[in-house]
Amino acid sequence: GDSPGMNACVRSVVRTAIYHGNRVFGIKRGYQGMIDNDIEEMHLDSVGGIIKLGGTILYTARCREFLKKEGREKAFKSLKKNKIDSLIVIGGDGSFRGLYDFINEFSIQGIGVPGTIDNDLYGTDYTIGFDTAVNTALEAIDRIRDTAQSHNRLFLIEVMGRHSGYIAVYTGIGGGAEDILIPETLTDIKGLTEKLKKGHKRGKKSSIVIVAEGDEAGNAFEIKKKIEKLVNWEIRVSVIGHVQRGGNPTALDRLLASRMGYESVLAIMKGQSGKMLGIVNDQVNLVLLKDTWTKKKKIHPSYIKLAEILAT
Ligand code: F6P
Repeated sequence: GDSPGMNACVRSVVRTAIYHGNRVFGIKRGYQGMIDNDIEEMHLDSVGGIIKLGGTILYTARCREFLKKEGREKAFKSLKKNKIDSLIVIGGDGSFRGLYDFINEFSIQGIGVPGTIDNDLYGTDYTIGFDTAVNTALEAIDRIRDTAQSHNRLFLIEVMGRHSGYIAVYTGIGGGAEDILIPETLTDIKGLTEKLKKGHKRGKKSSIVIVAEGDEAGNAFEIKKKIEKLVNWEIRVSVIGHVQRGGNPTALDRLLASRMGYESVLAIMKGQSGKMLGIVNDQVNLVLLKDTWTKKKKIHPSYIKLAEILAT
């Protein structure tokens, strides 16, 4: 999938690689383009003006063929045809699993760069696109707060995050949510309802509950049904959806993407392979590709406590 800031990363890879005397090729539609030999040499001006663009100029695709050895063989042939000996793959765990298999089977060097709005990859504090997604969702939440406040309503707002509550926690704290439901913690519907009633009694003019789409108690519509069994309030649901994946990247995402692109080229030039280039505590952190999906990046418990205290 795409995430805002990927273009800034592509630009950085291209310009850093050329600066150091390398040739760079852009592979369209991810692994599918590699199989189809949809590959073009990139030059300094191929990436002009793209730092501020969302999406990805290289496009992206799901590629079932690459899951099979025959598909990966075809992809390797395309790389050889273009005299490509190393790969920089920007993406999430699916992209990294593919890269892991590929470089274990063929003599090719490969580095992964974390690009996903979910921020769920182990080995990096932040992934490219997360900050933009949080800011986009937060703007929507602020707008919903205005209407919720006018009607004294309860809103359940669903944000993205298939297996991760990062977007939910960041937007929940930033948007002053009354509660945040995430897959990393057990959702207690009765407890939630009691808490909302208490707030209402205290004179709160509106309530917003952020629901991560992957919450184990269900999506926002399913949670609405469960709450409705316990109270007779008017509840509205708002699913922010793919709007979180698009748009111009924030300053932080442009910077992160530029830095990661630059460092990934240096890592390749130093002979590194089979790793993801993360940034932890502002330092480059090369972590084994496999660790990025087998180890779980935990949301620091202090965020959960903070959200709880501020929501009272
Ligand atoms: O992994 C990124 C992500 O945006 C998730 O947050 C979301 O669940 C998923 O992709 C949506 O995928 P698709 O665009 O295929 O519907």
